[in-house]
Amino acid sequence: AAASLSDLHGRRHNYLRISLTERCNLRCKYCMPAEGVPLSSRSSLLSVEELRVIVGALAAAGVDKLRLTGGEPTLRSDLADIIQSLKAIDGIRSVSMTTNGLVLARRLASLQRAGLDAVNVSLDTLRPDRYEDMARRRGLARVLAGLDLALQLGYSPVKINTVLMRGFNDDEIGDFIEMTRERDLEVRFIEFMPFAGNEWKSGRLVPHREVLRAARAAHPGLRPLPPRPNDTATLWKVGGYAGTVGFISSMTQHFCATCNRLRLTADGNLKVCLFGAAEVSLRDAVRGGAGPAQLLQLVRAALHNKKAAHAGMQNLAHMENRPMILIGG
Ligand code: GTP
Ligand code: 5AD
Ligand code: SF4
Repeated sequence: AAASLSDLHGRRHNYLRISLTERCNLRCKYCMPAEGVPLSSRSSLLSVEELRVIVGALAAAGVDKLRLTGGEPTLRSDLADIIQSLKAIDGIRSVSMTTNGLVLARRLASLQRAGLDAVNVSLDTLRPDRYEDMARRRGLARVLAGLDLALQLGYSPVKINTVLMRGFNDDEIGDFIEMTRERDLEVRFIEFMPFAGNEWKSGRLVPHREVLRAARAAHPGLRPLPPRPNDTATLWKVGGYAGTVGFISSMTQHFCATCNRLRLTADGNLKVCLFGAAEVSLRDAVRGGAGPAQLLQLVRAALHNKKAAHAGMQNLAHMENRPMILIGG
């Protein structure tokens, strides 16, 4: 097998996040501008066959974990086939998905049969009026039904991604933790990150230490659990509760030192960091006839330039980057 995908900071990259579509059935304000984003033409998106070629090359160099994102990955009608064919690639040990959860109740059983290993659900508020305000669409009841189905189908834990924004949902920290009392949920509070068109302001970011303080005030039984390698979240648990609580403090206490992640956009660009504008088109390489060795050469060259943290940026609010919906988180 090819050598692993290391960078100059000694990090090995075994986790690939794949955006499967630029479209979404919600319009969340922290993810995309109100007017939407210009969508790539169909022909400039990766075909499933091209995706398999790229993943095959990366898997031979040690990538063993895939996450499907978007846009909203469940908008792909061929999602079950994609999961099945990616899982069949030599070396791929797990395929998970991050979704807004709207259609899980309808589709999760078939995705599970196709081999989906884990599901993370984005859910920022438990109040219907707030949900509609943030997502510019209704859907809370359907998301909650999807969560319950995921638990019933045996997903364990089901992770909930909650982006905290001051003045919007920072009064719901206790309620979200309460969801872990009886159910095997991992509720993760995420610091609001800046991307093109999402109206990020430093004042809307709720810093980790403040989130933790509010969480402990609402649930004094909260205790830290041992760290898991390469995890985006630090893990806690309320004594006696079934589930756990995580904190993803990407801004104020970043976890870049253990970053093991690569990203592939729906239009076929590799990003070695969530932040920054550095990208290389693996799509163009494949279409130009590149084989696995040439693809890996491009990936290694990009990794050679990967910065120690935050794409080398001091001020993330002013960086050039895509809107979140075109990256996938
Ligand atoms: P697990 O595999 O279950 O641990 O999921 P994950 O945390 O890797 O992925 P998920 O899609 O659930 O993302 C949760 C949050 O973490 C989102 O806000 C992502 O944008 C953020 N996130 C994921 N990977 C990275 C990363 O490499 N860097 C930063 N800064 N944030 C990340
Ligand atoms: N800051 C932090 N997290 C975000 N996500 C989307 N936009 C942002 C942002 N601006 C999260 C979504 C999803 C994950 C992939 O990224 O909630 O769960
Ligand atoms: Fe990795 Fe970049 Fe995220 Fe840091 S900000 S963890 S380097 S992807």
